[in-house]
Amino acid sequence: MINLKVELGERSYPIFIGADILGKVGEALALYHLNHQIAIVTNTKVHGLYGQRLRSSLEPHVTKITEIVLGDGERYKTLRTAEQIYTRLIQDGYERATTIVAFGGGVVGDIAGFVAATYLRGVTYVQVPTSLLAQVDSSVGGKVGVNHALGKNLIGAFHQPRLVWIDVALLKTLPKREVTCGLSEVIKYGVIWDADFFGWLERYFSRVQRLEPEVLQKLVQRSCEIKSEIVSLDEREKNLRMILNFGHTVGHALEAVGRYKRFRHGEAIAFGMRSEGRMALEKDSWTEGEFRRLEALLNRLDMKVTTDGLSLEEVKRAMAVDKKVRSGKLRVVLPKKIGQVAVSEEVDDATVTAGLRYILKEATP
Ligand SMILES: NC(=O)c1ccc[n+]([C@@H]2O[C@H](COP(=O)([O-])OP(=O)(O)OC[C@H]3O[C@@H](n4cnc5c(N)ncnc54)[C@H](O)[C@@H]3O)[C@@H](O)[C@H]2O)c1
Ligand SMILES: [Zn+2]
Repeated sequence: MINLKVELGERSYPIFIGADILGKVGEALALYHLNHQIAIVTNTKVHGLYGQRLRSSLEPHVTKITEIVLGDGERYKTLRTAEQIYTRLIQDGYERATTIVAFGGGVVGDIAGFVAATYLRGVTYVQVPTSLLAQVDSSVGGKVGVNHALGKNLIGAFHQPRLVWIDVALLKTLPKREVTCGLSEVIKYGVIWDADFFGWLERYFSRVQRLEPEVLQKLVQRSCEIKSEIVSLDEREKNLRMILNFGHTVGHALEAVGRYKRFRHGEAIAFGMRSEGRMALEKDSWTEGEFRRLEALLNRLDMKVTTDGLSLEEVKRAMAVDKKVRSGKLRVVLPKKIGQVAVSEEVDDATVTAGLRYILKEATP
């Protein structure tokens, strides 16, 4: 089993990564004294597949346990669902010694973490992520929250988990489209932080796509290390953490114009990286050769969605909304080379247009 640590002073926590380790999570929670009043928050799908295994791992080690099973999907990531969870916790007599176990993808992790941040002014939670995106990204770093009718992730908090338990064997049942979405964020880590890891991905990509457990463990490990390192240096996104948004300025706009239905987040980010990579090329921030390497790897994601029919103007409008939220500045993360990026606060309109035209015309990452 791989053991990492997110360094955040007194809020530091361990990440455990392995294959077929779900059955051991109960022991781990006992070891860390997180085994008193356990509330599992999960969704119907993950509960159906793995609920019993999680429960039997926890049961021998805890004094009290309940399961709260949410509907499956982003549309449940709301204050309303959070309120339903609070109600259950109150009715079942959950007190300050509560540990919430977030068992699912990023949706479950974000909402369970948000409830943990706010219930009784904050209780402990642990992440047991089950989607690739959650294992490489959302379960680490402490950003938790819910959506508002007027926008995604607008209500939230920073609340770090006490432990993250990652079983890559759970990914066997993950739909292929969701695997692709996770891999998109993994490619991002290579571009923003680690050229060697990018090279490793180029070499092992087919084996990753076949979900070979040893290769997956290494991939999840390096991804968690990179995210942890960045979060340790800038927990609250004052500066460095912004580089995690490579591909996201355009990506978020695409998600919005697709009304959060057409593209999965990781798919929009794949288009976004291609577009922002192109902007970097326009500005001579990096070379054509480096840009082509990124494109070649994105091509291997084998995505089925396209940008067909989307207009330059509507995507630009969506980017302007994002810009308003950030006091009038369009912020784009531009690569300098594979493994290194810089945050640019002012990218001129011609560059943005060129970057967008590139994906709106030649759209097949
Ligand atoms: N907090 C953060 O730092 C952060 C970072 C990135 C994304 N997010 C959030 O994460 C969410 C997206 O997460 P996601 O992509 O995991 O989506 P998700 O939670 O909806 O999971 C995707 C689908 O896979 C299913 N699933 C999960 N694990 C499975 C398994 N092992 N086998 C079979 N099916 C499984 C889920 O039920 C769902 O249908 C978004 O709400 C996004 O805002 C948060
Ligand atoms: Zn993302």
